[in-house]
Amino acid sequence: MQPEKKLDIAVNEAVSQRLVTHLREDTTDLAEHDLFVPASDFVSHDRAASEVAVMKSLPMVVAHASEIRDNGDFLTREILDMPLLIARQSDGKAQVYLNMCRHRGGRVEQAAQGNKRVFMCQYHGWSYDRDGGRLRTVPFESSFEKIDRGCNSLIAFPTEERHGLVFAVLSEQGATALAEYLGAEVDAQMAPWQLEASSVVIDKTFTLDINWKLVMDGAIDIIHPRFLHPGGVGDLIESNVGVFKDYGRHCQHFGARTKLKALAKAEAGFSGGSKYIGSNLVIYPNSMMIAAPEHVEFWTVWPCVGQPGRSITHLRFLVRDAILDDALRARVDKSWEILQHAATQEDWPMERFIQQNAEAWPQGQYRYGRSELACAHLHRQLQRDIDAAAGQA
Ligand code: FES
Ligand SMILES: [Fe+2]
Repeated sequence: MQPEKKLDIAVNEAVSQRLVTHLREDTTDLAEHDLFVPASDFVSHDRAASEVAVMKSLPMVVAHASEIRDNGDFLTREILDMPLLIARQSDGKAQVYLNMCRHRGGRVEQAAQGNKRVFMCQYHGWSYDRDGGRLRTVPFESSFEKIDRGCNSLIAFPTEERHGLVFAVLSEQGATALAEYLGAEVDAQMAPWQLEASSVVIDKTFTLDINWKLVMDGAIDIIHPRFLHPGGVGDLIESNVGVFKDYGRHCQHFGARTKLKALAKAEAGFSGGSKYIGSNLVIYPNSMMIAAPEHVEFWTVWPCVGQPGRSITHLRFLVRDAILDDALRARVDKSWEILQHAATQEDWPMERFIQQNAEAWPQGQYRYGRSELACAHLHRQLQRDIDAAAGQA
């Protein structure tokens, strides 16, 4: 007989004990104060432009390693209105380029994905090396003035892979410096999930008429499941019980699945792994790693540039290759059905109402209560970064 595969991931003992105490005592982690966010933050064009500027200065997740698994694999993708060409070079390193020809701005690659050594712009045939993006050939070169190969490479963005995620800073300045950016605590939370040895099992993209922060809020929110998802997600996870961890820019919320509450109340022993404890690791500014019992829901939410009321949510379910089999695939499909129902029928329609109300009454403000620590953390951090950028300008 095959040894049983270990499916769940351990949760830090101190965190699980704190959560059990909260369940027994009907308490939760609390901030000192509520946070008020102006409704105009969800509709203002100036605000949206400031947020995009902040985003472009930070490492953001643009791909999963498995999407460019082999050397030479590439994919093209638009992020923040920027056409990107994401390639795995001969040395195995991922590199993100702007998919823009240095002649007159054509796209150098039009396919969604593939494997190539050279990219050639279809407009007038200029070609570029996959490795380093250097300009190779220029048809009719003698009819141009001298073209300096040294300064006509593809625009390359600082790129780094960590935990199987390809991060890029979408500006020419700056560096990814991911070890420092994520920090040891985020690393420690991500590592056991082995995203670098995982496959994308579910891959969905949704364009929503909702500000990106409201979509993030909806996935982070811990006090709504009972009310918005009765008979569904609301029966699976406890509302308004959680442990909050502040990791600098990033943060994490740990919540209880309902089966843990019964164990905690009975004072029985339990293993505090991902089977009983769900978590949402917010990888600032716009990604979230939501831990399901055996897999990860990886969310990335992109604002649409120039449209404060619109965003694109990219959802990927990642499963460790070591445990992926048909039975688990079926469970993950089921899990997607539950999430799909909750998101498309309940969360996003409610967030759309919130967006409409922000548009109808931008002079209003929204309140984030003391237990809504992770939502508040995101809004506060974003404000800090916008203020810092304004200070530098
Ligand atoms: S625009 Fe690419 S070759 Fe002319
Ligand atoms: Fe929800």
